[in-house]
Amino acid sequence: MSTEQPLRVRERLSEVRYEIRGELNRRAHALEAAGRKLIKLNIGNPGAFGFRAPAHLQRAIVDHIDHTDPYTHQLGLPAAREALASAYRARNAPHVDSDRVFVGNGVSELIDMTLRALLNPGDEVLVPSPDYPLWSAATILNDGRPVYYRCAPDNGFMPDPVEIENLVSSRTRAIVLINPNNPTGAVYPRELLERIVAIAARHGLLLLVDEIYDQVLYDGAAFEPLAPLAGDHPCITFSGLSKVHRACGWRVGWAILTGAPSRTADYRNALDLLSGLRLCANVAGQYAIAAATGGPDTISALCAPGGRLYETRRAVVEACAASGHLRLVQPRGALYAFPSVVGPAARGFDDHAFALELLETEDVLIVPGSSFNVPYHDHFRVTLLPQAETMREVFVRIERALDRRAEAATKVVPLKSRNAAA
Ligand SMILES: Cc1ncc(COP(=O)(O)O)c(C=O)c1O
Repeated sequence: MSTEQPLRVRERLSEVRYEIRGELNRRAHALEAAGRKLIKLNIGNPGAFGFRAPAHLQRAIVDHIDHTDPYTHQLGLPAAREALASAYRARNAPHVDSDRVFVGNGVSELIDMTLRALLNPGDEVLVPSPDYPLWSAATILNDGRPVYYRCAPDNGFMPDPVEIENLVSSRTRAIVLINPNNPTGAVYPRELLERIVAIAARHGLLLLVDEIYDQVLYDGAAFEPLAPLAGDHPCITFSGLSKVHRACGWRVGWAILTGAPSRTADYRNALDLLSGLRLCANVAGQYAIAAATGGPDTISALCAPGGRLYETRRAVVEACAASGHLRLVQPRGALYAFPSVVGPAARGFDDHAFALELLETEDVLIVPGSSFNVPYHDHFRVTLLPQAETMREVFVRIERALDRRAEAATKVVPLKSRNAAA
């Protein structure tokens, strides 16, 4: 047998995509290395756009840095878990106990861990389409199968509970909700959430709710935490410091297991085991958790008129309204807008080719909508993190690129050259 065979990788990786940091991002790096100045709107990374984590959170880490050398308890620092337990109790989450609070290296690690503790090969997870693609990837890499329920643009990107229930099979184990939603910015009303809880209860499904943008809300949008609505029904709520507290690089996230302890004891123990196998999460960042849950609100002002996120969102909303080529369901929460291309520019439109063209010709990096596991190819995502002025410039460039496309699509080819081409 030859020893020079290329190393084979896990087969199911071919089903996994993460375009947010994929081929387009690599091309952007190459262009930057060649001296081009790009506007990169592909990652919701506040620190890369000049945002800082709140000073009281930084101080909490600095003050405790002498205590960060050893591993800590596998579930997380006891004081941090107590702080989280009381914060979620204050939101009326039922059965919260610090023994069912799991601190991880970002929500990312906990998404993987919670699915790994749940799935057997071939099990199905109901995932929104569009989704934050880690949810699909983690399902696949833990031997499961994502089954998509639509959050259609013409329904304001809201899911349809009837469709969700129709997708339940004997293999379905969980329903994933992302609220407020990445990439669409949809914020789900209470009545909708209650209907989804009822489906989970009827079919014995675990509710997995990603609430990492829970306080990033615009224009009076009301956020409804799922755990209180789920009551005794098993539910895991995910959140962390990355977005609301603008500290992506600290890698601090948490998962709160709620629901009747008698129904969740085995699952809790499985998560305890998996937490132990990875020893513990980054300790330094955990010292900021109690400061975050007990400290002042530093996000609302950014999301209110005059605030930086609000004004950038306004710039996107106005640019899309003025555009001859774009349609937008206004984001009501989170850090993104997800517009679609309509009219002549949309003829034969391919979101990936457009993103590449925009990068090459206009120095703007966006994420094609199809990266978020949707079957259509006419959307794209931008993050709302740059300054409003930068965003206005971005949409001037997008409009220019779409004008070119519309012109090419509507150009009447003279009969003579048509014959010549034939
Ligand atoms: C919906 C959603 N969930 C999870 C994450 C990952 O968060 P973390 O930085 O805590 O790993 C992100 C990051 O963009 C996200 O948008």
